This record gives sequence, C-alpha cells and structure tokens, in this order.
Amino acid sequence: MNLFINNIGQLVTVASYGKRVKTGSDMRELHMSSNAALLIQNGIITAIGKNGELAPPSDIDIIDAEGRVVLPGFVDSHTHTVFAGSRENEFAMRAEGKTYQQIAEAGGGILSTMRATREATKHDLYKFADRRLNDMMRSGTTTVEIKSGYGLSPDTEVKILEVISDLKRDHYATIVATFLGAHAFPPESKDDKQSYINRICDYMLPYIAEKKLATFVDIFCELGYFDLKATEQIILESKRHGLIPKLHADQLNAFGAVELGAKHKAISVDHLEKTNEHGITALKNSETIATVLPGCSLFLNHPYAPARSIIDAGIPLAIATDFNPGTQMCYSMQMMMTLACTQMKMTPEEAITASTLNGAAALGLSNEIGSIEIGKQADVVLYNVHDYKYIPYHYGVNHVWKVVKNGVLLDF
Ligand code: NIG
Ligand code: FE
Repeated sequence: MNLFINNIGQLVTVASYGKRVKTGSDMRELHMSSNAALLIQNGIITAIGKNGELAPPSDIDIIDAEGRVVLPGFVDSHTHTVFAGSRENEFAMRAEGKTYQQIAEAGGGILSTMRATREATKHDLYKFADRRLNDMMRSGTTTVEIKSGYGLSPDTEVKILEVISDLKRDHYATIVATFLGAHAFPPESKDDKQSYINRICDYMLPYIAEKKLATFVDIFCELGYFDLKATEQIILESKRHGLIPKLHADQLNAFGAVELGAKHKAISVDHLEKTNEHGITALKNSETIATVLPGCSLFLNHPYAPARSIIDAGIPLAIATDFNPGTQMCYSMQMMMTLACTQMKMTPEEAITASTLNGAAALGLSNEIGSIEIGKQADVVLYNVHDYKYIPYHYGVNHVWKVVKNGVLLDF
C-alpha cells in the first residue's frame, strides 16, 4: 500500500534515531517539522520532507492534510481489553464512599469480572474486544497490549489468550499478548493459595510458552494478592520459559514490588501510584520502564504516580490506559495525556513521547513502531487540530481525523 501525505501543518515524528527509549530532557524533543510531507510504501515510511520539495511518485494515493497535525499512532502498552460483563454498580458504590479494596473483599472487583468472563463464549469475548479495539483505533491507538487475567483457571486463561491470538490475526491493530494468570486468587484456591501459584508455574506457563500464546507475563504484586515471594517464583519460572516479566507494582501499597521488578529486569513496572524513593533508586539503576496509568488514579480517586520525579531521575517513562472494567473504563490515550499534563506535571511533549515511542519500548517494539522515521512501520494518525498541544488541552473529545495503520488508510 503506497500513500503520500502532504500539506502537514505539524509533523511530530518523536524520532529517537535508533535509541530504544527516550529519557530525561530527550522526552521533550519531538523532532517536529512544519509544512511537511510523508511518503509511505508497502506499509513502511520511506521519505520525510518539506511539502513541495518531496514529490509523490506517479500513481499513488494522496491525502491532503490541509495543515493538520500528524503524530505516530499511540501505543497503549497496558490494557485488559478481553472481558465480559461490566461493573457500573461498583462505580456507583464508590461514589457512595466504598473503596476498591472494600468492594473486592465483598466478592466484587476482579472476581466479579472473572465470573462473567468464565461464562462467556469465545465468540462473545472476541466480539466485545473487537468493538473496543475499533474504538481505540478511532481515537488514535494503533498498538494495544492485552492481558488475560479474568479467567484464573487453566482453561479460562487459555480461552482468553486464544481470543487475543485470534484478534491479533484478524484486527488492524498490532496486538501484543500478556499472560496475567496471577491477577487474583480464584475462589476455588482461596484456602490454598500456593496450589494456584504452583498451577501457574507447573502447568499454565509451560503450556502458554509452548503454544506461543503470550510474549509477556504480568503479576499483580500487591498485599492480599501476590506477595513478593510468589511474584519472584512466577518471574523466575516465566523467564525459564522465555517469557518476559512485567509487573503491576505499587498500586495500593509500596512494599518492594518495583525493586523486585528492577532486580529481575522486568521490561516494565506499571501503576506506581505509591512508589517512593526506594523504588525510584531501584529503577534508576535498571533498564526497566516505569509505566504510569493516570486514568486509574482519576477513576478510583487515588494518588497519581510521581511521574515528575521519575522523569527527572532519568528513568524512561511510558503512559498507558490500563483499560479494564473495574478501575479504568476509558481507552482514550488523548485523555491520558490530559491527565499527565494536569495531574502529573508532565509537559505535552513528554506526554506524547510517553504515549508513543516509550510505550513501544515497554513492549520491546520501539525499533519498529512508536515514531515516524524512515524504515519504521507506517502507523500515523492525522488530527483535526492546528497544534499538537491542542490535543491534551481540549480534552474529552476525539480529535482524530484519519488513521493510517501499517500504511493502510482505515475506513471507519
Ligand atoms: O490494573 N490492579 C489490578 N488489576 C487491574 C484492575 C482489575 C479490575 O479491578 O478488574 C488494574 O487496575
Ligand atoms: Fe492493569
């Protein structure tokens, strides 16, 4: 598929010139050019230049951007997109003063979505997730990581991972699968938690690795869920099977999860609402990416992750939605950027870098996607705005005009 995009008002490339991830002041450097044009051939970006100077080859589809803004597609590196049911009742309970933990202890929370997801057919799970992915793409996201974690038994976790794999095959979005069997303890293992941990290590991980059903393994390392010992056991076992660890860390309590992730070279540690100086020091001495999920703080009225201190310490930071039915029912990365700027003291430039190139790095994909550079996959989004800063500024609306995924202009 060949495509020429001309008359681009602002081409925000987020170029990294071969660097895996951007840190510190480099996160503010978007390498933007005005009055630009872009050539895409066979799904790859092949030329970037000034409008008028870069000539389109003959017989090529042309998009006249009419002065609009172009950004790399967003990379949402943390979502729980495959699930059944919904939890608006818990939302209402929180409005009346109940906390996330109180609702979970009363049988709601993750287990409530687990029950609905166990009952759902693969066909239904596929259909629900497919619609959500279409919506995500309409709001500028072109790559989505999806976790299992609402099955919590070998059969149902595999069912979810198979749905993710089918979506990966069929959907325009680039999809990356993560096994999150260690999301909560299922009711049947309530009195023997170790038996569930062993089932993950001895049965689920080898099967998932053998069938290539996931790239990453995630663990909800939290008090009342998976403690440091269980988390470490699962990390070591995952690595033995060639699966790469990620963690849900420091969401509700800081007790060493971030430090453990850094020690074991997790590709990312995500959440970090409670991360303190010990976590920051551990990350500083590692290659692990700090992924913040500001939508979760908004939705649960929890503190925000210390993004400013993390960036200022030179740690690579990514932003993701954490889209899920319990704690974050929004998949707009545009909205996450607004929260980053208003609640976490990030600049619009840092928010864009964290939502594109650094998100790609959190999935190990930043050599292929996450920026607009020659040789990279052509995932580019055109916005109906005159300045990129307008996107997080005018929030709660979708500014996307057109989405080009892998060189293909999507028809919504
Ligand atoms: O990332 N924290 C754990 N997991 C999800 C919430 C899942 C749920 O409540 O359904 C999260 O916030
Ligand atoms: Fe999550």
